[in-house]
Amino acid sequence: PRRVRIAHLHEAKTHGDPLTMLTAYDAIVASIFDRAGVDMLLVGDSIGTTMFGEANTLGVELADMVRATKSVAKGTERALVVADLPFGTYESSPEQAFASAAQLIKAGAHAVKLEGGVRVADQIRQCATHGIPVIGHIGFTPQAENALSGPRIQGRGEEAADRVIEDAVAVQEAGASAVVLEMVPAELAERITSILTIPTIGIGAGPGTDGQVLVWTDMVAMTDWQPSFVRIFGEIGTALQGAATDYVDAVKDRSFPTREHSF
Ligand code: KIV
Ligand code: NA
Repeated sequence: PRRVRIAHLHEAKTHGDPLTMLTAYDAIVASIFDRAGVDMLLVGDSIGTTMFGEANTLGVELADMVRATKSVAKGTERALVVADLPFGTYESSPEQAFASAAQLIKAGAHAVKLEGGVRVADQIRQCATHGIPVIGHIGFTPQAENALSGPRIQGRGEEAADRVIEDAVAVQEAGASAVVLEMVPAELAERITSILTIPTIGIGAGPGTDGQVLVWTDMVAMTDWQPSFVRIFGEIGTALQGAATDYVDAVKDRSFPTREHSF
């Protein structure tokens, strides 16, 4: 399969073809999603909550992201691999952002994603200027959850909406290749999508964006709780628990292994 490239993102927007993105944190899941035709795999810093069992993404280290990015890159033939810059690895300066982003690119990412609009425009410009494609992330930005008082919709009301639009424009003007809109009103997301020439990728942002992204463990119900904006596309958590229960039972009642599973 031909690799999805940055140029394809822009083409997709021009043609009105919806872009698809899912998170992935390891080679085995990445290869499954790659074969399913997901356009972009995001090595999200959501790895902190989904895989490491933490309460938020703040404790994720660059080394964690490098390791996960290497795994996802190895499991991928077609998808564009995007890796998140974790909290504390890009905010201080454009130089810090580039140095961190370079590590993720060396690990096999084709692009990086970082949170913020106006406040990280210089960081985006530094990376984009020196050959690292950047995806912005505005609206609700989980790394700022302490300042934002938790996961809340952003851009409700005219003033707040204007600020999200300013962020969107700043991200585009700094040279980003796409932008994630998280938890913004559908109408605002649609407006931003029509203002920008780069693709918007929504999560909890309604149907009017150029693409969609979901956290994979959410969309297949690996845990009991999902955000309200998620659709369950498969009950994999339940299926996996059932398989594990059957395995335990089979070993206990000595129905596994049988002679056919033996040497
Ligand atoms: O880390 C992540 O999973 C993300 C998506 C929610 C966009 O940033
Ligand atoms: Na993230």
